[in-house]
Amino acid sequence: MKTVLAIETSCDETAAAVVRSRTVLSNVVASQIDIHRRYGGVVPEVASRAHVENLGAVTETALENAGLGWSEIDGIASTCAPGLVGALMVGVTAGKTLAMLHSKPFLGIHHLEGHIYASYLSQPELHPPYLCLLVSGGHTSLIHVQDCGQYEMLGKTRDDAAGEAFDKVARLLDLGYPGGPVIDKLAAQGNPTAFKLPEGNISLPGGGIHPYDSSFSGLKTAVLRLVQSLQAEGVDPLPVTDLCASFQKTVAKGLTKRAIRCALDHGLTKIAIGGGVAANSGLRQHLAAAAEENNLQVLFPPLKYCTDNAAMIGCAAADHLERGHQSDFALGTRSRMDLADVMTLYGR
Ligand code: KG4
Ligand code: ZN
Repeated sequence: MKTVLAIETSCDETAAAVVRSRTVLSNVVASQIDIHRRYGGVVPEVASRAHVENLGAVTETALENAGLGWSEIDGIASTCAPGLVGALMVGVTAGKTLAMLHSKPFLGIHHLEGHIYASYLSQPELHPPYLCLLVSGGHTSLIHVQDCGQYEMLGKTRDDAAGEAFDKVARLLDLGYPGGPVIDKLAAQGNPTAFKLPEGNISLPGGGIHPYDSSFSGLKTAVLRLVQSLQAEGVDPLPVTDLCASFQKTVAKGLTKRAIRCALDHGLTKIAIGGGVAANSGLRQHLAAAAEENNLQVLFPPLKYCTDNAAMIGCAAADHLERGHQSDFALGTRSRMDLADVMTLYGR
């Protein structure tokens, strides 16, 4: 069993954690949401600066809360891709420096592999193969998890990610940033059948729809057109709760339909969900009900492990380290990287 100190700085959360195999010994997250809220979204340069300011204290607290000394840490891990490059560089440089200073192996971790490993933190008995539905601010993916480092991407978004759609719709309804939590809250008070919106299917050239891929930019435009036509009719105030409920139901239905189809087609009986949008109550309800109807098991990590955190990065790193994987100190950061290429991070 390996114990890892992990750092996550790919976007707007400065996070550090200590994880022993699948057990979280500490998990510290300093959110930058309040800083970025005033700009209506994440400003990369501002995020990098805040990581530089916060990471020292966050890492120190993680180690302190775990009650461990350096001698009990087997390796240091940092998220190295994909994400905001400047933000990733802060975490990777800090991780490498600590690894060099304390003569520990260093591991660069793929952010999405981290989101996949979030499921093990609350379900330590979970083992591949299974389907992971990863829905975050940057990704909407259906991943066949075959083993540690072995992933097949079966479905993706062709444009906006699901979380991005929540954020953009919230912005056009003037609800602030981030959009997911506020839409989720308002949707609970609205009528989900008030408005009919497109589910974000991808049409295939020969007819029919792609079973697993989605497109959310059309849905966002449909909400915009709907708002414009309500305003043109003089509807005031706008039926914001009904708009939120209808939008949320449409996203939840589309994602659920594709995830269930994908699991059934590939003979996978378990669906683990990850990423910030996994916190969405509409998605949780739809997916849980559809999974039960189809005799599938669906696993939802607790909310604190759905959104960005370093515990999930540490869990992935501990598994890699147990298998003898480690990264070269020359490892760089990348804004984009396919999950299929995860094993290229471990050259030694
Ligand atoms: O995984 P995450 O913390 O960061 C990324 O890696 O992107 O996900 C953030 C995204 C944001 O777009 C946010 O609006 C969305 O997750 N989100 C939600 C909810 N909570 C967070 N979306 C829908 N419903 C929620 N309850
Ligand atoms: Zn994330």
